[in-house]
Amino acid sequence: MSKLREPDVETLITSDVFPAISTKMNVEITANKYYKALLNKEKEIHRNGMHSFHRYFGKLIPAIPGFAIKNFTKEGDYVLDSFSGSGTSLLEAKNLNRNAFGVDINPLATFISKVKTTKIDRKIVEQTWEKLQKKIDTDKSKLSTKSEFYCINIDHWFKDFAKKDLLRLRKNILELPEGDVRDFFLASFSAFLRGVSNADPRHVFPGYSKRLRKLDAEGKRKIDVKASFTRTIKRRLDYLDALPVNRAKIKAIEGDSRDLPKEIRGIDLIVVNPPYISSIRYLETLKIEMGWLGFIGNQKEYLSLDTKLVGTERFYKKDLEDTMLTGFPKLDKQIFQLKRDGQHKMAKVVSQYFNDMRKSMSEMNRVLKKNGHLVMKISDSTVRNEKIKTHEHFLQIAEDLNLKSIACFKDSFDENSRSLLTSRNSYSGIMNHDWILIFRKEE
Ligand SMILES: C[S@@+](CC[C@H](N)C(=O)[O-])C[C@H]1O[C@@H](n2cnc3c(N)ncnc32)[C@H](O)[C@@H]1O
Repeated sequence: MSKLREPDVETLITSDVFPAISTKMNVEITANKYYKALLNKEKEIHRNGMHSFHRYFGKLIPAIPGFAIKNFTKEGDYVLDSFSGSGTSLLEAKNLNRNAFGVDINPLATFISKVKTTKIDRKIVEQTWEKLQKKIDTDKSKLSTKSEFYCINIDHWFKDFAKKDLLRLRKNILELPEGDVRDFFLASFSAFLRGVSNADPRHVFPGYSKRLRKLDAEGKRKIDVKASFTRTIKRRLDYLDALPVNRAKIKAIEGDSRDLPKEIRGIDLIVVNPPYISSIRYLETLKIEMGWLGFIGNQKEYLSLDTKLVGTERFYKKDLEDTMLTGFPKLDKQIFQLKRDGQHKMAKVVSQYFNDMRKSMSEMNRVLKKNGHLVMKISDSTVRNEKIKTHEHFLQIAEDLNLKSIACFKDSFDENSRSLLTSRNSYSGIMNHDWILIFRKEE
């Protein structure tokens, strides 16, 4: 299989691997098998540790962008992920020497992406860390949490001694000269914050769990801010070593997939996993980190950002009445059914989601070069007993945009996706597979 690098189905059909066949259906089955086999092969490859820099819910497995980039681009080409999250596609692009743009509405996500794809000298980081430790050890300044940054119930989330150590660490990192090294420390700070808080790292949404309370009561949990941050930096220094030195230009932009920035055009490959319908409240999962790093300044800013997310469940009451149709008869029937069942908010969530995704896919199509490819990972959802076949509607949107579907196959979750699976179960129905959709923009 690994010799088959040419993603042209016609070639495939006449290859030794697949028997010569004629019907359209068989061609589709062959293409699906072919791409699925290539993706599975990609999953066997060990990845750069930078992928583990920061937790992020709904992360792509790197094999998906890895597979897409290797099969649909060459070195120097341009890749886009317009729902780039923590930058998995961008890091794969960097590793494979492709240029890439990432767009995400969450500023912490684009910040993490930038740090994960920026090569800096290990020695400079080590020297900075040494100086920083000395400064922190001799820093006797009194610190207040009152107005400096946004963290509701800070005393609920952090033990008093941990809070003091964290405030000192944060202050001294912020006093470093602006630039890549300071960003590296700030992103590391964000990555380790949850581990020294009362929020259970096993939970998707921040919560002081029974498990942690019990461990605390029994004195079995030792929080040591300095030791923990030292370990965090050490591990990330090794990740940094694995990042290649090459000419790939990577840019993570805070922006909206429904209205892509002007500088993005002439893209050879788009690889995305958009949010699922009401699956994960992304902002809530990172609320503590975003406050401490200053990416949200108050509750109003938090709520305002949340309403802008594709897949949001946050609507003003007055907007619930205004449920737009999607233009897909089966889906519109389901939306009406939700309304009849009194599920006005969920009817709005579903209709808004597909209208937003139509805009996002139309933007993807606009910036994609002729013969360029779009690879999407998506999952169907169950919303209050209504099974929504998201992938089928995406196929329809793509067809309306004149994007040619070249493959569509199921991709089963691997062991590492279990936490996501559990969280999805309670929000949008049980799923044990995703869909991979591959399109080509025709001449
Ligand atoms: C499934 S996650 C992507 C995860 C990413 N592939 C990774 O590996 O980290 C979906 C992302 O879409 C982002 N998002 C939601 N609405 C958006 C919008 N209107 N424009 C851009 N990004 C958006 C969310 O912030 C979230 O990071």
